[in-house]
Amino acid sequence: MTQTTIDDFLKDVLVLAVVCNQWGDTGKGKVVDLFTGWSNIVVRGTGGANAGHTIVLGGQEFIFHLVPSGILYDAQGKINVVGNGVAFNPGTFIEELGYLDEHRQSYDRLKVSHRAKLLMPQHVVMDCIGEMMKGTGRVGTTGRGIGPCYKDHYDRIGLVVNDMLNVDTLREKLKKNLESKLRELKCVDPEKIHEAMDRLGLGEFYKKDGKYAPFDIDALIDKFREYGKRLNEMIGDTDDLVKNSLSRGLRVLLEGAQGLLLSIDYGTYPYVTSSDCSIEGLVKGAGLTMRDVDLTLGIVKAPFMTRVGDGPFPSEFGGYGSEIYCAAGAEHDIFYEAKQFLGCDVNLERVRTLQRQRKKEELKEEYRKVVKHIKEHESDVVKLMNSHDPFLRGVGTRLLGMEYGATTSRPRRTAALDLPLLRYAMQFNGPELALTKLDVYNQCERIPICTHYIYQGPDHRVGIRTLRRGDRIDVAIPDAEVLRYCEAQYKMYAGWMQDISGCRSYDELPGKLLSILNDVEKETGGRIRIASVGKERDATILRAA
Ligand code: IMP
Repeated sequence: MTQTTIDDFLKDVLVLAVVCNQWGDTGKGKVVDLFTGWSNIVVRGTGGANAGHTIVLGGQEFIFHLVPSGILYDAQGKINVVGNGVAFNPGTFIEELGYLDEHRQSYDRLKVSHRAKLLMPQHVVMDCIGEMMKGTGRVGTTGRGIGPCYKDHYDRIGLVVNDMLNVDTLREKLKKNLESKLRELKCVDPEKIHEAMDRLGLGEFYKKDGKYAPFDIDALIDKFREYGKRLNEMIGDTDDLVKNSLSRGLRVLLEGAQGLLLSIDYGTYPYVTSSDCSIEGLVKGAGLTMRDVDLTLGIVKAPFMTRVGDGPFPSEFGGYGSEIYCAAGAEHDIFYEAKQFLGCDVNLERVRTLQRQRKKEELKEEYRKVVKHIKEHESDVVKLMNSHDPFLRGVGTRLLGMEYGATTSRPRRTAALDLPLLRYAMQFNGPELALTKLDVYNQCERIPICTHYIYQGPDHRVGIRTLRRGDRIDVAIPDAEVLRYCEAQYKMYAGWMQDISGCRSYDELPGKLLSILNDVEKETGGRIRIASVGKERDATILRAA
């Protein structure tokens, strides 16, 4: 029963990348946190405040959206970097700095790329109005302006962080940018835009009249100059910093955001985010190249999985019913589900008012009460998870795994682990796997795992292959038109029915769990290098190569 140490695990590694092989929310924060002690520099390379990274330290939960997860090690001399590929919202970032101040955590070594894409209020407005206008074709974005920000970059009308430091450039680029937004908003009722801006807390940037109405260009310039001044010391050429650190033999940890299946280039398009969240996107956004990476760990939540937002999800518990139910978003959040399924005495009307008014402290109090109730009623949650009704199994899994959006509080859609999708993701992120949240299923009696699909749609040409009804698919085809007709086929496993959170080596894990893990390796050609058996940092099993 030998335990593998981090030094053994990372022998000969100088650049370690942690990415996700699913739809994000797989516990990357915990894995990154585990290796931060080893690293000298932690870099985020993609995504923006659409991500939510949760880290539990000393019993306290920290959630970050933009700041890299290694920030809690700042005082120990670690450098944290927001790389060039990030969609950077300085307002959110500064709020997170305030949160760090509140918790007396330093951020003296935090750096932001001068080339990171600048995310501005008009992007948030466009994201929300764009989703409203798409109707049933919506993507279910996080509403954080990510798509419009990257779109501007590719349209060559985007701004970068450096522009906050040069007022004339800021004004000129902003004019051009806002003119394009005005063209896009031409057919939208101005009152609707006004309402949306107020609802989004962006009222201070609204102007009824003037050349750039509904946007107040002067207010935007003032605010972003102020941000520039506040962040002045942190902004710099981080590509250079990362490359130089590497050439001096420092250890680099690359922190992915979202997951391969959400990648704009490789994901289940169009139900994806707007950055490339594969290992390639991460490396580029951090200022490195693939040649620099020594080890890529692909995170896999198992033996269940989740996704938020719209889009096909073949092994979803409760199928279409769950999809529609979860599409109601925050309306079916943890407060609602604790009341509805566990009889928790929560005043939903009050919670909704607090949410609208953004009363964070009062909400936290309500949240604590609800979480306490869920813990006290764990046996009822387990019953839900073991229910024969797939929808209820999904609800039980969600409540047990606390699967609610860290950014939006939406209920995450839950499903059986899907091996066709995993095989697909591994083609990009490689064979080394880190399995997380295994302990959530400690009391699960029967565990389905999706081994392959049977195609049930009309004839459909994919490249040189024509898919026909009844065809078997082993490696997922990430095309929404194909995936929606894929019927998941399962192998059933008996649950291990014991607490694994004390296990510290692979061979200590129960035989029934090991047989599932062996099958996952055999079926995908992967190698499980990490098994996470609990929330805390040390509840993690490392396995030699
Ligand atoms: P956007 O990134 O806000 O544009 O959203 C596009 C899609 O990506 C939506 O389905 C979101 O739910 C999803 N998404 C974005 N960020 C995350 C994340 O951190 N975890 C899970 N899903 C995400």
